[in-house]
Amino acid sequence: MQTLNVWLDARSYPIHVGAGLLGRSELILTLLKVPAVAIVSNQTIAPLYLSTLADGLRAGGVRIAEIILPDGEQHKNWQTLNHIYDALLENRCERATTVIALGGGVIGDLAGFAAATYQRGVPFIQIPTTLLAQVDSSVGGKTGINHPLGKNMIGAFWQPRLVLADTDTLKTLPDRELRAGLAEVIKYGLIRDLPFFEWLEANIERLLARDGDALTYAIQRSCVNKAEVVAADEREAGERALLNLGHTFGHAIEAGLGYGEWLHGEAVAAGTQMAGELSRRLGWLGSSDCARVAGLFERAGLPVRGPRLGADRYLELMALDKKVSAGRLRLVLLKRIGLGVVSAEAGESDIRAAIEACCHD
Ligand code: NAD
Ligand code: GLY
Repeated sequence: MQTLNVWLDARSYPIHVGAGLLGRSELILTLLKVPAVAIVSNQTIAPLYLSTLADGLRAGGVRIAEIILPDGEQHKNWQTLNHIYDALLENRCERATTVIALGGGVIGDLAGFAAATYQRGVPFIQIPTTLLAQVDSSVGGKTGINHPLGKNMIGAFWQPRLVLADTDTLKTLPDRELRAGLAEVIKYGLIRDLPFFEWLEANIERLLARDGDALTYAIQRSCVNKAEVVAADEREAGERALLNLGHTFGHAIEAGLGYGEWLHGEAVAAGTQMAGELSRRLGWLGSSDCARVAGLFERAGLPVRGPRLGADRYLELMALDKKVSAGRLRLVLLKRIGLGVVSAEAGESDIRAAIEACCHD
C-alpha cells in the first residue's frame, strides 16, 4: 500500500492506493467516531464488493446501514439524493455516523453531498472503484448532483476523512469505463505535468492492458497532482479551475445529449480536443502538439470529436458553466502541453470555430 496526503490543516486526510485494501477494515475502524456507518453503493457494485467491506467492519463491531442506489449518471439527481436522506433517517443515523461511498464518481458525488448536508454534515469516507474516481473524483471534496439544465450545478465542498483506492476493484471495470478514466489521467499531464504526459505516451498500452504496476503508478501520480492543486486552492478561487480542462465543452456534451449517453470521461476527451483547438487558434498550442494530444486520446480509445449539437446549443449550455464570471465565459486552455491556463481571452467566433472543427461530420 502506498499513502499520500491531501494537506488541508485540520481537515488533512490520507489517500491509500494498493491491492486488497477493501478487506483492510482497520484503516477505517480507527477513524470512526462511533461504531456506525452508512455505506452508499449501487446495484452493480454492491454485489461485487459490499460484502468484503461490510464483513470486515461488522467483525470490528460496526453497525451498518446499506443504501443501494440505481446505477447511472441519469440517477445523479435530486430524487436519488432524497432516497439517501430517507434511508439515513429510517436507519436512525446520527451526526457521528460515517457515510462511506463505495463506487464510482456518481456514487461518490451523491454520497458526499448527502454527507455534507445530512444533519448539517457528517463524517465521510471515499472508497472509489472506477479509475476515474480513483484518480480524480474521490479526492478534493467536490460533491453534488446534476440539474436538467446543467451538470454538477448543485453541490458542496465536503472533504472525506480517508480515500481508499483498492486497485483490485479495477479488474471488474468494463473496458469503456477504464478508457473514460484515462481522460482524467491525461488531463494532469496536459495542465501541469509534462513528464507524466510523456510517461503516458510511452505506457498507454500497459494501462489499457491493466498492468498492475502501471495502473498503480498512474493513480498515484494523478493523486499527487490533484492533492497539490487542492491543497493550494481548495475552493477553486484560482488554480483548481485548471482541473476542469475540457469540462466546459464536455459538460455541454453530457447535458446536451442527456446524462448517461456519453460517459463523463469520453465527453472530457472530446472537450479537451476542443480546448486544444481553441488554444491553437489563439496561437498558444502548436499544430503538432494539438495533433499529439489527439494522438494520445485516440490511442486510449477515447473520442476526439464531439456530437454535432450545433455551436449555438454548445454555447447555450456552456453559458451555465460554474466558471462564468460577470457573464463572461472563462475556459481552461493550453499554453503548451504541461501548462494550462484559465482564460477569458477567446472570442465567441473562435470558440464557435473550435467547436465546429472538433465535431463529427
Ligand atoms: P460511474 O460512477 O457512473 O461508474 C461507471 C460505471 O462503472 C457504473 O456503471 C458503475 O456502476 C460501474 N462500476 C464502478 N466500479 C466498478 C467496478 N469496480 N467494477 C465494475 N463496474 C464498476 O462513473 P465514473 O466515471 O466513476 O464517475 C463519473 C462521475 O464523476 C460524473 O458524474 C462526474 O461528474 C463525476 N466527477 C466528479 C469529480 C469530483 O471532483 N467530484 C471529478 C470528476 C468526475
Ligand atoms: N474534478 C475537478 C475538481 O475536483 O476540481
